[in-house]
Amino acid sequence: MQLSSYLLFLCLLNWAAGSDWCYTGCEHTPSEWSHIPGAFCGGGRQSPVNIVTGHVETNNSLGSFMLVNFDSQNAVKSIVNTGHTVKCNLEENQVEVSGGGLGATYSTLQFHLHWGTEQLPGSEHTVDGRRYAMEMHIVSLKKGLSVEQAKADPEGIAVLGFFLSATEDEDTSGPWVELVSYLSNLTDTDMDINVNFSIMDLIGNVDLSKFYRYKGSLTTPTCNEAVVWTVFHEPINVHKALLENFPQTAGYTNAYRPTQGLNGRRVSASPATPLPPSPHWCYGDHCDHIPPMWYLLPYSHCDGQRQSPVDIDTKKAVEDKHLGAFKFAGFDNKEAIENITNTGHTVKCKLVEGLVEVSGGGLGHVYSSLQLHFHWGSEGSHDSPGSEHTMDSKRYPMEMHIVTKRKDLNLTEALKTPGGLAALAFFIEASVSSKRSSASDHHETVTSTNPTSDTSDNGAWKKLTSYFAAIPNISSEVPVTEKFSIDDLLGSVDRTAYYRYNGSLTTPLCQEVVTWTIFKDPVKVDNELIKMFPKATGYHNVFRPAQLLHNRTILKASSAHSSTDFPCPATLLLMMTCLCALFIKR
Ligand SMILES: *[C@@H]1O[C@H](CO)[C@@H](O)[C@H](O)[C@H]1NC(C)=O
Ligand SMILES: *[C@@H]1O[C@H](CO)[C@@H](O)[C@H](O)[C@H]1NC(C)=O
Ligand SMILES: *[C@@H]1O[C@H](CO)[C@@H](O)[C@H](O)[C@H]1NC(C)=O
Ligand SMILES: *[C@@H]1O[C@H](CO)[C@@H](O)[C@H](O)[C@H]1NC(C)=O
Ligand SMILES: [Zn+2]
Ligand SMILES: [Zn+2]
Repeated sequence: MQLSSYLLFLCLLNWAAGSDWCYTGCEHTPSEWSHIPGAFCGGGRQSPVNIVTGHVETNNSLGSFMLVNFDSQNAVKSIVNTGHTVKCNLEENQVEVSGGGLGATYSTLQFHLHWGTEQLPGSEHTVDGRRYAMEMHIVSLKKGLSVEQAKADPEGIAVLGFFLSATEDEDTSGPWVELVSYLSNLTDTDMDINVNFSIMDLIGNVDLSKFYRYKGSLTTPTCNEAVVWTVFHEPINVHKALLENFPQTAGYTNAYRPTQGLNGRRVSASPATPLPPSPHWCYGDHCDHIPPMWYLLPYSHCDGQRQSPVDIDTKKAVEDKHLGAFKFAGFDNKEAIENITNTGHTVKCKLVEGLVEVSGGGLGHVYSSLQLHFHWGSEGSHDSPGSEHTMDSKRYPMEMHIVTKRKDLNLTEALKTPGGLAALAFFIEASVSSKRSSASDHHETVTSTNPTSDTSDNGAWKKLTSYFAAIPNISSEVPVTEKFSIDDLLGSVDRTAYYRYNGSLTTPLCQEVVTWTIFKDPVKVDNELIKMFPKATGYHNVFRPAQLLHNRTILKASSAHSSTDFPCPATLLLMMTCLCALFIKR
């Protein structure tokens, strides 16, 4: 073998062993790690990451940890300076971690540290861009797996990450004084030590119920994507002078990898972890996220191509004979409405689980109803309509949405599946009441002239709106004891004439998973009751503006004729005769 190829061979051997890398001052600094043969450093679930607390979701299944021998003073066996970190090896098969939402029991091998310089912080993870002074990693393998097996298992390794924060307070640093005392004597071979501290002594009084969780990788080559990460919210406080020993004596500084992209991964948090309130969105001008800004909200889909509401151009709607009759179950149940909430964006009626179902209507699945709610405009001197959808650009005074979920999916799945939700939308139009109630303080000029019969049961709407007095504050909720059904609210409105399109939720996060049904004919409700919505809640114009249709088609059920869609004169004559006959019969 020629000398040059022999050297190349040696070099590759070195590379493959993952030893030819560094944080600074060599050829393979972190930005080059992705080129290391056999390593995974260029993968999609790398660590560390920046934890953006505003994007973190609470996960109730992240319970408390069960730690075995974390309080044993005999657990630490040896200490070594690897050239990349200072590492303490533990006695084998003594220390264990489980619970904390981990799917298995993990056997703890070692802990080690990451640091910056004497002046600059060097934790690996950051929180909202903040880098802590140092970070300690306690590394455990899924019990029963070898290191190689664990590296090949997506959850083979569990790392507990603790931030170290520099304080001026001596009192809390006892065990750290002892650990630091070994630093100046370290070599690159394991030095057996007999310590007086346990792992728990190092952790101190950090609240172990507050932590972040995500799936990532080893933070050094070969960066295997095998790590379930736990990063604790509270830092360990250690005296500044002690922490400075790490960069001073180890022989290298900035022993941390820069943060890596999340690539769609989500960081969750245990229930006890304090998170900032989720950013506010609103319809009006009283917050940062008005509708055109909704797309900026974390995980928002509001800038997608299949958004709702839309304007329904009835002349362009395509007739589809598959859009048959709906089957409504439980709509006549007078106890289906469980409670009414003032969400701050709408008035929402939660339905009793499992009572109300919708199928047919070309939906293709059975959907169970979750809730119904309303969209409205404003009342008073600037009366304006507030439906979300518009018909040939006409906006109705209000719109009611009955929100249903595919029965075979849970809500999380439904929110990720096109057609996972189906919304039934009914326009609401003012009827002119034929007889004003005596309690009304309005004069009766307009009321007596129009004898139009209402298509809804105003009694049910009266009962519904009577609860508004009990929910003056945002988040207030009141149980419903009056008996009225969804049928009572809808009255005799035609439920065979409707439009259909694929769209989204009309409030953030605007997930594009909603099969929309817009019924052609409005439900007629007494104008005074319509005015109750803005009056009682104090908020106005709670509707999203129309979104672009892009390349979507709006379908219509055969019986949903557009307003200019007159049948031919002969049929018209026939229809008139029938209608007359109907009226005469009445
Ligand atoms: C470090 O080495 C010195 C000299 O070899 C020795 O006196 C001292 O006890 C050692 N310290 C520890 C903590 O082992
Ligand atoms: C550990 O404790 C023993 C007895 O309390 C003491 O003699 C010894 O010096 C301590 N070792 C260290 C490294 O602090
Ligand atoms: C609404 O909030 C006010 C002020 O915070 C409070 O006094 C009142 O009791 C609340 N009312 C209800 C029904 O929750
Ligand atoms: C909605 O999307 C589904 C596919 O996800 C498609 O089969 C259906 O035809 C679409 N409906 C309309 C009204 O465009
Ligand atoms: Zn580490
Ligand atoms: Zn709605």
